[in-house]
Amino acid sequence: MKPIQVGLLGAGVVGTGTFVVLQRNQEEIRRRAGREIRISHIADLDTERASALAAGAAEVTADARSVIARPEIDVVVELIGGTGVARSLVLEAIAAGKHVVTANKALLAIHGTEIFAAAREKGVVVAFEAAVAGGIPIIKALREGLTANRIEWIAGIINGTTNFILSEMRARGIDFAQALAEAQRLGYAEADPSFDIEGIDAAHKATLVSAIAFGVPVQFAKAYVEGITQLQSADIAYAEQLGYRIKLLAITKRRDAIEGRSAGAIELRVHPTLVPAKRLIANVEGAMNAVLVQGDAVGTTLYYGKGAGAEPTASAVIADLVDLARLATADPDHRVPHLAFQPAAMQDLSVLPIDEVVTSFYLRLQVADVAGVLARLTGILAEHGISIDAMLQRPAEIGAHEGAARTDVIILTHDTVEGRMTKAMAAMQALPTVLARIVRIRKEDLG
Ligand code: HSE
Repeated sequence: MKPIQVGLLGAGVVGTGTFVVLQRNQEEIRRRAGREIRISHIADLDTERASALAAGAAEVTADARSVIARPEIDVVVELIGGTGVARSLVLEAIAAGKHVVTANKALLAIHGTEIFAAAREKGVVVAFEAAVAGGIPIIKALREGLTANRIEWIAGIINGTTNFILSEMRARGIDFAQALAEAQRLGYAEADPSFDIEGIDAAHKATLVSAIAFGVPVQFAKAYVEGITQLQSADIAYAEQLGYRIKLLAITKRRDAIEGRSAGAIELRVHPTLVPAKRLIANVEGAMNAVLVQGDAVGTTLYYGKGAGAEPTASAVIADLVDLARLATADPDHRVPHLAFQPAAMQDLSVLPIDEVVTSFYLRLQVADVAGVLARLTGILAEHGISIDAMLQRPAEIGAHEGAARTDVIILTHDTVEGRMTKAMAAMQALPTVLARIVRIRKEDLG
């Protein structure tokens, strides 16, 4: 059978990995796919780099559009990244009737509705296993292995850079800036690491996962996103004393009956989170990724692996190419739809505002060590209907605040609605005995 012909746009880290792995495992991949998958054309502005990679086995050009326009190309692999030129090229490839494989989470999280609609119109597939958690086949797990389940929630460490930084902060007791510098020195973080450390990269990925899990449109703009830049090593240490680790979790959850919302809703949020130290996911260290999925039939499942890097990401890109090779020989009317749900079955569930999300909380309050402070704090929590789970108070130190001793009070709460906590925090913050901005970190038991 004739090979599937692939046009590769972008010969950077992942493009190189894809080309190398396809060549190295060519025979095995051919047997699995039922036909050869051949990268016949590579487009990259750096033609010297692309030519060195192709080594005569593929045609090289700086003009991506000329690759898309070639009639013999069946699949376009977009590994350029970003939401500018990549968006135009993906839409052009779809318009030319080509299937698309991409690792571009930002593109799909922001322009997914437009791109999937265009693909549906043309009857082509846009596959994106590599866009979420690199080498972990989480998209296929959700669409295929777990397809019998009603997904209840997903919680994941899906940004390796921030997990590396948090691991270093905890293990070495260093602060955020030092850990970030270390991540940059080792090549984990970009020179401009803002997408990673502000939680945006994880939110792009969570947006895609929530669309697949719950059959809702991609709606990145409605995600609640909080990164790790404000996280202090003191809070990591206090959390540890209480039996927790702090992880940057991406969480999406189904919420059924909620007052005032007839159709239910979903949660879509990324923020630092206290996780019981005994949970497997709390022990995922360094740049590794892990995703927990709770399905009604299967229970809790955990997927762990490398979320970035040349060959782990190539592994996911090639898995999509193999799927496409199989589909090309199957009935085109029964292609797996883009977001795992047929368009008519998509639901219009709203994304809950963060004020309506229910979690428990870690609070750290720096207070003057005078009589009645604790009683006032616990009184405010009680007035707002918030129940305390645990407390920790450090021995007082003499501070600069008018000569009074100051101390850290750590409070863990039971579950409460975020909006209620926000009001209670405002009341506590207004007390003259609360000496610094109150630190609030959400907590999930993930049981
Ligand atoms: N910057 C990402 C991370 C890698 O640190 O996980 C690819 O998504």
